[in-house]
This record gives sequence, C-alpha cells and structure tokens, in this order.
Amino acid sequence: MSSGSVRRRFEPGTTIGDLKKYMEPFALRLGYRFNDDEEFVDEILSAEIEILDETGDVYCPCRVRTGDPKEDVKIICPCIPFYADEFAKLQKCWCGLFVRTDVKDGSALHGVIEAPTSGSAEVPVALLAEFPPGTLRTVRIAKREIALARIGDEFFALGNVCRHAFGPLGQGFLDGYYAICPWHGWRFDVRDGTTDHPGADVATYPTSVRDGYVFVTV
Ligand code: SF4
Ligand code: FES
Repeated sequence: MSSGSVRRRFEPGTTIGDLKKYMEPFALRLGYRFNDDEEFVDEILSAEIEILDETGDVYCPCRVRTGDPKEDVKIICPCIPFYADEFAKLQKCWCGLFVRTDVKDGSALHGVIEAPTSGSAEVPVALLAEFPPGTLRTVRIAKREIALARIGDEFFALGNVCRHAFGPLGQGFLDGYYAICPWHGWRFDVRDGTTDHPGADVATYPTSVRDGYVFVTV
C-alpha cells in the first residue's frame, strides 16, 4: 500500500460507517444527502475504501484520476463543492452517491453521466438560519463569486466584483437596497445591479428559499 504524496485523511481499517459519519453532515450543509438506495451507497463506499487502501484517499470510483495531485484533489469524495453548477443541474453527483435534498426518491439517479453544457441551475449557497436580515456576504458557486444580500425577508444575488477597481462587494455593507463597495464606496442597487457609474453595472441572479436553504440560480 502506498500513500504517495497525498495527505492521508483516513486510516487503514476505515469502514463504510466511518465514511458515512464523516460525509453526511458535510453533504447536508451543501444541500445533498446520500442516495435513497442504501445498497448502491454501500457499493460505492466500499469501492472508495478499496481506492483508499490503494492510494491513501477516498477518490471517486466513477472518475479517472490524472496522477496530478492538484487536479485529483477535485475528485476526492465528496467532490460536491468543485462541481456545484453541474450537480445542481443533474440533481446528483456524478456517481449518484449523493442526491439533492429536494429530490423525493433518488434511487433512480445512479451512475456516471456527462456534464451538462447548458441551462440554468439552482444552487444552495447558504443556510437560512445563518443569514439574518441585514447580511451581505460573498458566497461561491464553483469558481464564481457572488455577493448575497438579505434585506428583510428578501434575498438578492449580484456579481461580487465591483467594476471600479475590482473590490469585493460581498465584503461591503448595505444601505437600504444598496450594496456599498468596501474599497471606495461605489453603490450598487441589489435589485438590478445598477450603479450611477456608466457601463459599470453588475449582473444579478434569481434567488429562492426553501427547506432552510437559500438558493441562487446561475
Ligand atoms: S461524484 Fe459523488 S461519489 Fe464521486 S467523488 Fe463526487 S461526491 Fe463522491
Ligand atoms: S473598487 Fe469598488 S469602489 Fe473602488
């Protein structure tokens, strides 16, 4: 057995139960749960344990490792944060080990399928309970940063990058319906992304709330 240069997170002797205990809360925070088909879940996890014994980490059993640790870190299970857009469209991870919490019965969602290339996806970005009124914060969907604001019970999502000098809007503050850039104070209307500065508006994204999560559609 060799762990190569990969940092070992699980010891030899790791069981399916250990993996479930570790992965379940992590996936739940991202809006996913284990597939309803328990036999399938155990099959995938036992394949992951074989890979763990061979490589030192729980690489995805339905993806091909490249041998480049920086690339392969993106397919250590659960890989949900790296593929948030794609999985939101599929309602499941590549293998189907995890399905979205709003899927009623995920037992048909098995197996590898190709990445969707178009269409929109509703991605859970925050726990409602952790986002009180008056909050402005940066959230991340795959590589994209979005400024998420809550004003009363309304949520607004807009591009995070200020068009003046690239300040992070999500780290600014709110003044009524305006997000104020923390660097030099440019004001962006969170309802439509507009600002008084010509040609400097930012994109906005639809938001929704359900099952205790805030979703952004990208
Ligand atoms: S696709 Fe599913 S099983 Fe594979 S690493 Fe990602 S979360 Fe785990
Ligand atoms: S970078 Fe936002 S106001 Fe200057």
